[in-house]
Amino acid sequence: MNGSNVKRELKIDSATVVLGIETSCDETAAALVMGGNDVLSSVVASQLEVHARFGGVVPEIASRAHLEAITPVIDQAVAKSGLSFDRVDAVAATVGPGLVGALLVGVAAAKSLALTLDVPFVGVNHLEAHLYAAMLDDPNVEFPMLVLLVSGGHTMLVEVRKPGVYQIVGQTRDDAAGEAFDKVARFLDLGYPGGPAIDALAKTGDAEAIDFPRAMLHDGLDVSFSGLKTAVINYVRKNDGAKTSDIVASFQRAVVDVLVAKTMRAAENLGASTVALGGGVAANSLLRSETARACEQKDFRLVLPSLAMCTDNAAMIASAGWHRLQLSGESTLDAGAYPNLGLTVAGV
Ligand code: KG4
Ligand code: ZN
Repeated sequence: MNGSNVKRELKIDSATVVLGIETSCDETAAALVMGGNDVLSSVVASQLEVHARFGGVVPEIASRAHLEAITPVIDQAVAKSGLSFDRVDAVAATVGPGLVGALLVGVAAAKSLALTLDVPFVGVNHLEAHLYAAMLDDPNVEFPMLVLLVSGGHTMLVEVRKPGVYQIVGQTRDDAAGEAFDKVARFLDLGYPGGPAIDALAKTGDAEAIDFPRAMLHDGLDVSFSGLKTAVINYVRKNDGAKTSDIVASFQRAVVDVLVAKTMRAAENLGASTVALGGGVAANSLLRSETARACEQKDFRLVLPSLAMCTDNAAMIASAGWHRLQLSGESTLDAGAYPNLGLTVAGV
C-alpha cells in the first residue's frame, strides 16, 4: 500500500456517492449514501447471536466474524443501491474508537476497495458519525444542536454549532448508559444486549416501585451510572421476592430522569434550536418519549433518529465521510485503526 498524501481532485456535492463501512464492534455494515444524506442502501450483519452466549462481545470472535461477513455485506450494499461499483466516488470506514482487530478489518477492506476503484479513502470517527445519524433522518436540522450520544461505550452531551464543529460539554464519569443497561441485565439474567430486554420488560413493571439514586442530578452536565448499577445489585440481594419487572422499570426510570434533565440543561445553556438523540440507547422507548415531552415543554425542536440509525450502521459512516471529505479532504492510506479515538473539533 502506498502512503502517498497526494490529493485527487474530487468535487463533493449532492451527487457524490460514498460507500461507508462500519466494523468497530459487533456489527458488520456497509451502505451507499449520496450527497451526505440520501441513503441508497444500508446493510447491517449483526453478530449478536455469536456473542450472546458469552454475555458480551468477544474481540477475537468479532474480528473473525467481520472477516467472514465484510465482502458479502459490501456486495449486498452495492446491489441494493441499484448502482454499480463504478458509481462509488469515495470509500469511508470507521477508524476508531472501537476494538482494534474489528476496526482493522473494515479499514483494510475500505483502503483496498478505494485503491481498486481509484477513488479517495476517508477515515471516519465513529462518534462523529453518530452525530450525523440524527441528520440523516432529518437533513434540515437547525443549529446550534445539542446531541445526547448514548451507546454501549459512550455517554456524552455534544454541542454541534455546525457540521464538523462540536464540543463535548458533559460525559459519564464511569459507566456508559448502555453499559449500565447491559450490566444490570446480565446480573438479572436477562441476556445480552441488556438494553432492549430491559426496555421490553420495564413496560410491564412499576417505575415508581423502587426509588433508585439519580447521581449528580442537580450537579453540572456530567453523569455517573456506576452507583446506580451497584444500588440495583444491592437491592436485588436484599429483596428476594422483588419483581424483576419493577426493578428494571425503576432502574430505567432513574437512568432516563438523569439523561433527560442533563440534556435539557445543556440545551438551555447552549440556546439550542434542535435537540437530537444518537447511539444505541437512543432506541430506548422511555428515553425517546420523555425527551419528546421535555422538548415540547421547553420548545426545542427534537430530532429522533429511526431505530436503525440509532444503533451502529454504515449509513452514518458514509454520511460522516461525505462531510469529512468536504471539510478536510481524503485520508492517507497509511491511516490505521485508533481504538481510543476521542471526539475532537478537528475530527480524524
Ligand atoms: O451504539 P450501539 O449500537 O453500539 C455502541 O457503539 O456501543 O449501542 C449499543 C448499546 C448496548 O449497550 C445496548 O444495550 C443499548 O445500546 N441499547 C439499548 C436499547 N437498544 C440498544 N439500551 C436501552 N434501551 C434500548 N431499547
Ligand atoms: Zn456506536
